[in-house]
Order: sequence, then C-alpha cells, then structure tokens
Amino acid sequence: IDELLAEGVSGKRVFVRADLNVPLADGLITDDGRIRAVLPTVKALAEAGAKVIVASHLGRPKGAPDPQFSLLPAAERMAELLGKPVAFAQDTVGPAAHDAVDGLQPGQVAVVENLRFNAGETSKDDAERAAFADQLAALADAYVGDGFGAVHRKHASVFDLPKKLPHYAGYLIATEVGVLKKLTEDVKRPYVVALGGAKVSDKLAVIDQLLGKADRLLIGGGMAYTFLKAKGYEVGISLLQEDQIPAVTEYLERAEKNGVELVLPVDVLVAGEFPDLKTKAPANPTTVAADAIPADQEGLDIGPETRKLYASKLADAETVFWNGPMGVFEHPDYAEGTKAVAQALIDSPGFTVVGGGDSAAAVRTLGFDEKAFGHISTGGGASLEYLEGKTLPGLAALEN
Ligand code: 3PG
Repeated sequence: IDELLAEGVSGKRVFVRADLNVPLADGLITDDGRIRAVLPTVKALAEAGAKVIVASHLGRPKGAPDPQFSLLPAAERMAELLGKPVAFAQDTVGPAAHDAVDGLQPGQVAVVENLRFNAGETSKDDAERAAFADQLAALADAYVGDGFGAVHRKHASVFDLPKKLPHYAGYLIATEVGVLKKLTEDVKRPYVVALGGAKVSDKLAVIDQLLGKADRLLIGGGMAYTFLKAKGYEVGISLLQEDQIPAVTEYLERAEKNGVELVLPVDVLVAGEFPDLKTKAPANPTTVAADAIPADQEGLDIGPETRKLYASKLADAETVFWNGPMGVFEHPDYAEGTKAVAQALIDSPGFTVVGGGDSAAAVRTLGFDEKAFGHISTGGGASLEYLEGKTLPGLAALEN
C-alpha cells in the first residue's frame, strides 16, 4: 500500500477488500476487532485523498440478499470509529453501489453491501467468479487486499478481482503475514501451541504440521474429548468425532516418536446439559478426572488441575500460538479454562499470538487487554491454513 500511496491516490477510486465479518447478537456487534483492524489502511487512503470503497462478506448468506447478514451495522461502526460519515450502498455492484461511489469526494469512504449477497462471489465456477469480479472492478481504479481473515477463500473479491486492477497489500495483511512468518521461520523455542475449539476435524491438518514443528501441543475445548476417547477413556455425552479417532491415535503415537509433548486435560468440568448462553443461569458443573467422565455427563471446560498444568507448560515458552477456546467460555461457569490460557499467554515471556475469530473475540469479551498479547490475529481459518503451509489464494493473488 505504501507503493500505491507513493504513486498518489488523490481522487482515485480504491477498492479495499476487508474482513468485516464480525460477530452479531440481535443485530448488534459484539466484537468490533475486525473493523478496527482495517482502519489504518482506510485512514491512510482517505487521508491521501482516495475515494475509498470498502467491501466485505458477513456470515454465510446463500448468494442472495438476506437482511440478517447486512453489512450496515459494520458500516455504522466504521463511521463511529473513523469519526466521520461513511456512505452505505444497499447493493454490492448495482445502481446503489455506483451511486455511492460516484458520490464520493476525495477522502470519503463508502461501504458496499455484503459481497456474498452475489452468487458469483463464492462460486466454484471460474467464469462466474470472474464475471462478478468484472462487476466489482468497474467500481474502482485500484485494489487493496486487507481482509486477512478471508485470504484462504478462493472467492471473486479475494482471488479474481486483484488480477483485474493494480493491486496492493494493505497494512493489516502485511502485519499478519509478518507475524505468521515468525511462527514458521526460525521460530524461538520452546514453541508451545494451545489448540481448542469444537471440532478436531478443523484442526487435523495443522496438528499434522505442528507435530514436526512445535515442542508442546496443549489440547482443550470440544476437540479434547476425541483425544481422550482415542486414549481409551469414556467421555460420556461430550462432543466426540468418532470418525477422527484413527487420525488422532496416529497423532498421539507420532508425538511420542517425535518427542513432541502432546498434553491432554487431566480433569474437566462436566454437567448433564449444555448451559443456557442467553440467560447464563448457573450451570453448577462438577469437576471430574479426565478418565472418569460419567456416562450421562458432558465435558464443557478444562478443570482446575489442567489450568495449572497448561499454565506451567506455557510459563517458559519463547513462542506461543493459541487458537480455539478451552471451553464454553460464553458462559461464566465454563470460562475459567479459556481465561487461564489467556492469562498464561500474558504472563509468558515469549512472543504470543492469538489466532482465530473465536479466541480473539474471547480474549476481548473476557476483558483482557489486547495489548498484553504479542499479536491478536483477525484470521481463524486463514491463520491455521497459513501454519499448515498451504498457499492462500488471497495472498498469492497479491504477489503476482
Ligand atoms: C472467518 O470468520 O474466518 C472469515 O471471515 C472467513 O469466513 P468464512 O469461514 O465464512 O469464509
């Protein structure tokens, strides 16, 4: 982007592909981290006199307008954060978008409606995606890719559009890639990775990679129960992906062979039912050993011994990557595991990276100061796929 700014952008229409996919509850934004993360790019362009067009997806609408996924709340929040008006177009490439862009004065900003209200955005058909990219290209003179959270998606606005306009990487993408490089090239050891979240299947590829790179892997969240089951423990009615047990068993064996410490919960908080996240009514969980989960109970957080164990495994880390909550942190009775890991990262002397929409939102909604971490990534799937060593379409497109 510095190159673009040096060339001069005054009066130019610059399309910024952001990731404004923020969590919403009853139409209200519960965490605006992703909006704040793209502000440096938007501000720099506006201050240099560009006409800034910001575009993003939000949620997973099915290729047609769906009011619950409107980007309007994100546009309004962006206006608040910028401290100046932001125009909002009620379509993405139609008359409203063209009107909004035509109405921009140098230094002004417009947000167009959700990219995924258009089937061409996510289409698997190259021609259909390219056609939508042509429509997007008609709005702008230059392209800035800054939606790090979406760079792993081969979507029209991420992958096809940069080929049609002079293209540049924004500040957020540059920062994110710089941080992830520190985790993949010449990493400082001990390198400890904490992985949580619901599904082990989402994490298989990254675990596979990390078994050759990390010194310790701490496992929590819903995915821990598939590991416990693979070790031969009964897990009651906890989340379980039976079909992943063979893969997980192989990982347990490989970890031992490679000298990687793969650390599993030693105790967990269990209850007979999933907590009510709306009322947050007391859930009254009990603590049981990880090998003694009752048949009618569900594990919903790591227990107190595990919290201490994981904190001790993080205490001397020189590099930490954490992705995925340790329990159902949205309910106060099951937030302690996630809080303990967040605190251990803060206390660790090393370089700490929080990756993932959920864990990033967790540290902020649990009241931690984001500045206490080395870096909070805006990318969940994107940062995992980067660590897996995959080529990310949105980064490859910017390189060419
Ligand atoms: C994310 O939340 O990880 C990104 O915004 C990408 O969203 P997606 O998984 O719906 O493509």
